Amino acid sequence: NAVPTSDQSEHILRLNQRLLDAIAIADWDTYEELCDAELTAFEPEACGQRVQGLGFHRFYFDLGAPKQPRHTTMIDPRVCMLGDDVALVTCIRLVQAQTDEGPITERSEETRIWQHREGRWRHTHFHRSQLS
Ligand code: GLY
Repeated sequence: NAVPTSDQSEHILRLNQRLLDAIAIADWDTYEELCDAELTAFEPEACGQRVQGLGFHRFYFDLGAPKQPRHTTMIDPRVCMLGDDVALVTCIRLVQAQTDEGPITERSEETRIWQHREGRWRHTHFHRSQLS
């Protein structure tokens, strides 16, 4: 795996943070803009199945923005280049959320793939494991 330039790394991590922030506020337009229409994913919500396309994810956005604030932090994010046009991002994702019982923090392991096609980066695959 090639080490990205600092410009590449900064750019990809900015996109990744934008994606996570869009999820936190249920901003479908931004999520759709950043994702490939054929996005594949493994995540706890999919119960061990690999889901493809955006329809599965849209369900959660259509539930609406959370009423209480959420804040997403990428811990120790790393970018590896797999060739010139594919970037692999790994990090621990912390989501702080206010609930009726008080503030909580959710922790996940995330691997996200970004592919550069037709002049822009698109999110093409992710795998999330819930840690708590
Ligand atoms: N559940 C949507 C995402 O993590 O991209």
